[in-house]
Amino acid sequence: MREKVVEVKNLSKIFKQYKKKPGLLGSLKSLFKREYISIDAVKSVSFDIEEGEFVGFIGPNGAGKTTTLKCLSGLLFPSSGTINVLGFTPFDRKTEFLKQISLVMGQKNQLWWDLPAMDSFLLNQEIYDISKKNFNHTLDGLIEMLDLRDILNIQVRKLSLGQRMKCELVAALLHSPKILFLDEPTIGLDFAMQKRLREFLRGYNSKYKTTIILTSHNMDDVQELCARVIMINKGELAYDGSLDGIVKKYVREKYISLQFLSSVSQTDLEKFGEVIEYDGVSATISVDRKDVPLVSSSILKSLPIDDVDIKEMSLEDVVINIFDKQ
Ligand SMILES: Nc1ncnc2c1ncn2[C@@H]1O[C@H](COP(=O)(O)OP(=O)(O)O)[C@@H](O)[C@H]1O
Ligand SMILES: [Mg+2]
Repeated sequence: MREKVVEVKNLSKIFKQYKKKPGLLGSLKSLFKREYISIDAVKSVSFDIEEGEFVGFIGPNGAGKTTTLKCLSGLLFPSSGTINVLGFTPFDRKTEFLKQISLVMGQKNQLWWDLPAMDSFLLNQEIYDISKKNFNHTLDGLIEMLDLRDILNIQVRKLSLGQRMKCELVAALLHSPKILFLDEPTIGLDFAMQKRLREFLRGYNSKYKTTIILTSHNMDDVQELCARVIMINKGELAYDGSLDGIVKKYVREKYISLQFLSSVSQTDLEKFGEVIEYDGVSATISVDRKDVPLVSSSILKSLPIDDVDIKEMSLEDVVINIFDKQ
């Protein structure tokens, strides 16, 4: 069995914020009598992650994904519950712990803005106490995998977002962390660059067995990278399992798309399932997933069929549906 590298039990995080009454008078009043509002960002969430896993955290805006990652990486102190990452309590921020993890946030720049990326890399070499030999070896590998050679000596501020993101990853991986936390790594990137980054992450995870925990709005990220998905909604754990499992758990129907050889009436189709689309020569009907084999074979027997296609609802739609409902 693989080693557990993350153990989270009943993690909760409540943020307390001052409630300011509107206007100047409100501000003055707030000075004397402060009222708090509390936000339950994460509510009693539990999960374990094993070495080498690539786990995707999904959930709508404000679900608590970033808060969870910050608790795991030691940036935030949990309000209650326990977290064990690589045998450490993250918020203790022990050097041995920090040397084994990395956090990259898509919206945040961790490189020195006015210096070439190479300078930030060298600084990290000092901070993480990486030997010259290891540094050169790791850097070379990363440069190769990310195709970065030409831009290391350009001021970071002059790089494109995609180039910068690649450099952020290099900086985060120079000390060869055992766990990489990625918060929305593809945000704002164009399609081709998203794809490049995903290829890199997939390759890196399989080559080095680094555990990667990623949050993303982008279902393509999760679909292409993560064998396991943890879904949180309004701070609560909504799902933990395989990607396909989400569709199976939340969607009872499948869609059967049909092309007809000659025109078929809508009434004839309604015998088989709910008609979603219909234009006389083609149609889509929705059918309970357990009935699909039976229904499709009786359609083939009784209607003039040119082509049949059985489809699942897209993960994107499923997830949007779940969040809308909850
Ligand atoms: N530092 C903070 N102070 C107060 N509220 C916060 C803070 N950080 C996050 N929140 C709130 O906690 C909730 C979860 O936020 P977050 O973890 O950033 O969600 P996600 O990353 O899933 O979009 C949101 O309601 C957000 O407004
Ligand atoms: Mg977030």
